[in-house]
Amino acid sequence: MCVVGARPNFMKMAPILRALAAHRPPLPSMLVHTGQHYDQGMSHQLFEDLGLPTPDLNLEVGSGSHAVQTAEVMRRFEPALDDHKPACVLVVGDVNSTLACTLVAVKKNVPVVHVEAGLRSHDRKMPEEINRILTDQVADRLYTTERSALENLVREGVAAERVCFVGNVMIDSLLSSRPHAKPTAQTLRFHGIDPSLILHEKGYGLVTLHRPSNVDDADTLRRLLGILSEVAQSLPLVFALHPRTRHNMDRFGLMDRVDARRVLLLPPQGYLEMLGLMRDATLVLTDSGGLQEETTALGVPCLTLRESTERPITAEQGSNTLVGCDGQAIRSAVADILRGAGKCGRMPELWDGQAAHRIAADLWRWLAAGAR
Ligand code: UD1
Repeated sequence: MCVVGARPNFMKMAPILRALAAHRPPLPSMLVHTGQHYDQGMSHQLFEDLGLPTPDLNLEVGSGSHAVQTAEVMRRFEPALDDHKPACVLVVGDVNSTLACTLVAVKKNVPVVHVEAGLRSHDRKMPEEINRILTDQVADRLYTTERSALENLVREGVAAERVCFVGNVMIDSLLSSRPHAKPTAQTLRFHGIDPSLILHEKGYGLVTLHRPSNVDDADTLRRLLGILSEVAQSLPLVFALHPRTRHNMDRFGLMDRVDARRVLLLPPQGYLEMLGLMRDATLVLTDSGGLQEETTALGVPCLTLRESTERPITAEQGSNTLVGCDGQAIRSAVADILRGAGKCGRMPELWDGQAAHRIAADLWRWLAAGAR
């Protein structure tokens, strides 16, 4: 039983479902969508772009506080487990749905498989960090994307025999979808924006922000938007707005804080649009975990507006630089990239498009051995 809940889960699950079906003998699977993300831009469009099948079950939990959302997923997931009696539950990533379904399954003695295990920001104020630590503690089989994840897990007392380094399924999706990425000019025209506004000699910067620590506090968000407006004077920006961020900009009266001629606001983008926007960007400014990995795979310089990353390999080997939220650091990192001194990095080990096949092969062996 494969579980997805929120946007970053979808690109991880698509190659896994394909690999389970392609495995010989096939590993039958069913897809459960918790409905944590539910709207066209955050969910349906991505299912289409990624070729994900319609979920066998949609729990339709929707939004809520962390407690309400987690509890509601648990309450609705339990009868699904009882009805379908899967050999194991496979969860990906670190969202509330990941932890909620894990808790339900382990307490019913259904083995849990966690894909993207062992990543740690070491910042327990992030809700995702709590979800990662707790999921990994009780999961039975843990698949990792980079070698440092094993060290984190062993430090937390997880037995190394439960861990298997397979590479990055998110990059499986990226490599298979890259030829179909939408050209940026087409995406902009679709939103009524004249591409010549930004597609000139220096190009553009792509921005995404949605971490609660960056967008839920009015002062912090006001300051960040101010920094973006300054950056936009030397490099026009395309800002794909997460619903949380748009909602907070409205609520705090910050919509005017960005110069609309230099910062183009877009709604949440489809996967293929986003891939095109990333590929064509001069640089990316983000607080997303997924974009740090995707820009590394594309060799596009990425400035991460956070103090820590759970994906250190993107900074050590890839194109990622942690700049925090300090205006001076951000401006000087942008200037470096504009004078050609940006990082392009290299592809990390096993980010080769085959991670999901390695998972399917290992899962088959592990289940055949009695999930031990
Ligand atoms: C969640 C994940 C985060 C992930 C992010 C990607 C957790 C703890 N966080 O954060 O790890 O990086 O998704 O997007 O699970 N909303 C909509 N439409 C939707 C979904 C949400 O409008 O389809 C709005 C709602 O107002 C909601 C808000 O966005 O309250 C936040 O959604 P939520 O799922 O609570 O958290 P994210 O910030 O999206």
